[in-house]
Amino acid sequence: MKGIILAGGSATRLYPLSQSISKQIMPVYDKPMIYYPLSTLMLAGIREVLIISTPRDLPMFRDLLGSGETLGMKFDYIVQHTPNGLAQAFVLGDRFIGNSPACLILGDNVFYGQGFSQMLKSAGTTEDGACIFGYFVKDPRAYGVVEFDESGKVLSIEEKPEKPRSNYAVPGLYFYDNTVVERAKTLKPSARGEYEITDLNRAYLDEGKLRVEIFGRGFAWLDTGNCDSLLDAGNFVATIQNRQGFYVACIEEIAWRKGWIDNRQLEKLGSELDKTEYGKYILSLLN
Ligand code: G1P
Repeated sequence: MKGIILAGGSATRLYPLSQSISKQIMPVYDKPMIYYPLSTLMLAGIREVLIISTPRDLPMFRDLLGSGETLGMKFDYIVQHTPNGLAQAFVLGDRFIGNSPACLILGDNVFYGQGFSQMLKSAGTTEDGACIFGYFVKDPRAYGVVEFDESGKVLSIEEKPEKPRSNYAVPGLYFYDNTVVERAKTLKPSARGEYEITDLNRAYLDEGKLRVEIFGRGFAWLDTGNCDSLLDAGNFVATIQNRQGFYVACIEEIAWRKGWIDNRQLEKLGSELDKTEYGKYILSLLN
């Protein structure tokens, strides 16, 4: 399974200062936003990741994350010149994906909750068909909306419907078999001029190959789409970390727990950041 993080697009700029900075490089509490989706891919066992962003922002992600070698991973980078839809990620990522199944995560989606790793492991085995997720929200009109029956069978999926058929929004995390590349190439732009991920999902649904997994009540899918929700996400992470002492989305820790890096490498990574609480946390894992 290969992973793609889409960290660009029209809706990514939040601040006046954002003339020069993409949202996903800004911190959610104590680490860059992109660490959160990256950690999600890592928990799914994905070691090869393609980062897609705008011509202006991609160099910043490359500076921040490098080749991935220090984490026992491999990062690739590719520019999306115009933000014309999520499904484009698979066309741009054609060569990177090769013959593998692929997982796409949006650069501003933050997930946290018990049992998440297990769900990811299971979705990560998707070799035939697609697996998406559903999350109950009060008002799903800003999202893809999935409708399903009692047995969990998907009945419909619609993008930003005015009259949603369910309250289940589809978060920006998608697992696909290798046919995703060819399917993405045949999509036509929607009324808003984008290659829609929802159309891609519908192509799987039409063949009875779309599975939905539901995130329950105790699960957090956090939005970082505006200043308030970004602050809420930061406070949420701070609350969990300060209460439990476990860090959310510490990519060095995940690489180490997965056995992708050894103690020496973890110590090296922690030492480079030892003036920060984040670095101290990394070093504390070795005690
Ligand atoms: C996109 C997708 C939508 C999905 C959402 C999740 O919306 O099109 O289906 O529910 O991401 O964050 P957009 O960010 O383009 O509004």
